[in-house]
Amino acid sequence: MKEDLIDLLERINSEFSGKLISTGIEEYISKLIGNSVINTEYQNDVLAGFIAFYANNTETKTGYMSMLAVDKSYRGNGVAEMLIVKAEGHLKKIGFKYFDLEVLKSNASAIALYAKKGFSIFEDDTTHYKMRKSL
Ligand SMILES: CC(C)(COP(=O)(O)OP(=O)(O)OC[C@H]1O[C@@H](n2cnc3c(N)ncnc32)[C@H](O)[C@@H]1OP(=O)(O)O)[C@@H](O)C(=O)NCCC(=O)NCCS
Repeated sequence: MKEDLIDLLERINSEFSGKLISTGIEEYISKLIGNSVINTEYQNDVLAGFIAFYANNTETKTGYMSMLAVDKSYRGNGVAEMLIVKAEGHLKKIGFKYFDLEVLKSNASAIALYAKKGFSIFEDDTTHYKMRKSL
């Protein structure tokens, strides 16, 4: 699974000219595997997409979406929506109240996706929006 995640993220990071993940991809994935919940969606043995989210802030009961990525050739088929709904289900089940994320202001398709799934902007810096959904 790790190799598939690295391959997918390398492709996606180059779509963003390296701006999505500024550290090394392998290091980033290892950190995700160690500390976050990762849900993958395989279609015909190919990694179509995955979501990685942190579910360890039991004090604030806030989950944090660290990464959501769908392979280019699998986009527009509801894979991202399905991954978000599944992550929300996980967080609700463990009693979490909020789901937060950060998105590049230039990433219009992701912002449209998050708005559709009920996330709202609660903070705005020069490059990113912080968005939150109440669960
Ligand atoms: C953003 C991304 C995850 C969407 O994945 P996807 O599986 O194609 O998304 P879905 O098919 O579930 O789309 C659901 C909704 O998202 C929005 N959306 C998705 N792609 C869009 C696009 N190209 N333009 C506008 N809205 C878009 C729409 O609201 C869509 O709902 P609709 O089909 O009813 O219009 C995918 O494009 C991706 O991996 N992009 C690169 C990585 C990335 O930007 N990740 C987010 C980092 S914060």
